[in-house]
Amino acid sequence: MDENGQRGSSRALYDEIRARIADGTYRPGAALPSTRALAAERGFSRTTVSLVYEQLASDGFIETRAGAPSRVAAGAVPDARTDRDAQISAEDGGAHRHAGRLSVIGTRVAALALHEPVPTAADEIDFVYGPLAGRDFPILPWLKALRAVERQRSARLAYEDPRGNLDLRKALQTHLSQSRGLSCSVDQLLIVNGSQQALDLCARLLISPGDPVVAENLGYQMAHHVFETYGAKLLPIDVDSHGLRTDLLAQVPRAQMAYVTPTHQFPLGSFLPIGRRRALLAWAAERDAWIIEDDYDSEYRYSVRPEPTLRSLDSSGCVIHVGTFSKTLSPQLRLGYMVLPPRLVDVFSAAKRLTDRHVTTGSQRALAVLLEDGSYDRHVRRIRRLQHARQAALVQAITSHLGERVEIQGAASGLHLVVWFREFAAEKEPILIESARQKGVRLYPVSQFFHPAGRADASIRPAGLVMGYALLERDQIEEGVRRLAAALRELGSDRF
Ligand SMILES: Cc1ncc(COP(=O)(O)O)c(C=O)c1O
Repeated sequence: MDENGQRGSSRALYDEIRARIADGTYRPGAALPSTRALAAERGFSRTTVSLVYEQLASDGFIETRAGAPSRVAAGAVPDARTDRDAQISAEDGGAHRHAGRLSVIGTRVAALALHEPVPTAADEIDFVYGPLAGRDFPILPWLKALRAVERQRSARLAYEDPRGNLDLRKALQTHLSQSRGLSCSVDQLLIVNGSQQALDLCARLLISPGDPVVAENLGYQMAHHVFETYGAKLLPIDVDSHGLRTDLLAQVPRAQMAYVTPTHQFPLGSFLPIGRRRALLAWAAERDAWIIEDDYDSEYRYSVRPEPTLRSLDSSGCVIHVGTFSKTLSPQLRLGYMVLPPRLVDVFSAAKRLTDRHVTTGSQRALAVLLEDGSYDRHVRRIRRLQHARQAALVQAITSHLGERVEIQGAASGLHLVVWFREFAAEKEPILIESARQKGVRLYPVSQFFHPAGRADASIRPAGLVMGYALLERDQIEEGVRRLAAALRELGSDRF
């Protein structure tokens, strides 16, 4: 991480610990994680974490003693308003004297340590997961659909149904039935601004402060953050090579919700087998818990067809199925959908109306055209082939340059792999990433996907990287892995 990156991260960490003290997660007298453990978990250097602790100590929030864990200071009182006012006053010369406070949720949001995308240099090879390549977007069919839609602009520019444009919901109903074997009525479909909005609506409508929510550990941080922001008590449950350890659910007597990625566990990439699916559904039915099934990238199963959804097995009506077009078309479109159990339709529809009335009509109708005229399916077939070829290039490059030193996980599907470095403990991830960075390769640690409340001990698990390939062509992939191997050689095993 460069100097600005380090500074931004330490500020975020400082704010996060302050917020956890303020909301009572860390009570006065409670021990904080060791600097070593926290550094390994977040992918920071230990110096960065030590400096944050020193700052917190000098501001009176924690007490540090050599050789003993740092503890929350007895007099650490939450006072977000005073500090924020002081900060704003300092920044703008005191022009803002307004004394309004943030809400509890606002305070939590302000304290989130969200990973902002860091701009990459032109010659840097970026194994980022998330963005798609602009050149893969189906620009001609999309423009054609948009033009067709605009030609049929209606005389009356009225608000859309908050559940979404009817043509799109009809086309999506057919598409889900054909591609996912998922049957639902058009009324059960809600078009949202990406899955993130679906998660936000679920959190707002289904979670009350303190409600236990089961989440996969490792798991999707953007989901965890949104649930915790609305007051959920997250219960991280371990995942293994088959996904969520449903045998551990017996330890969770009460939960309001479980959030899972059963078709392609994020980030480890496994498929949840049928036995575990049934166990999860039975557990939820017994406890009247909701299950959110995040089906974010099932289009990218390379060897076999995507298996039936959890929702298709659900006889009690507890599964909320969420999907997105962010992985096949573009995350910039902000187009996603929910398949809701019938009794949630009205409340979600009302909440969607209150939030932003509805998703942009033009893009909903254009997507309906793509689904109806077959160009979406053609595009998916094409992009699946492309992504599969990139993945094969990555697996091949890793195998030939890193060989036995690493283990690859999650190659059956998706747009990323997880690569475990057998020789190095997790706490070495920052060194590994920094040395690759010096060679012009951008890599991302797996540590960020462990939930702080359920983290595996960083000293006993190997270092891991999440390597996305959707932005890269084969020669860049090969060159990136070659440089990574060179960086590892230069580091020398004595550094580890
Ligand atoms: C697990 C998971 N769910 C959902 C998404 C897509 O989010 P959105 O539809 O909000 O773009 C992603 C994208 O990275 C993801 O990794």
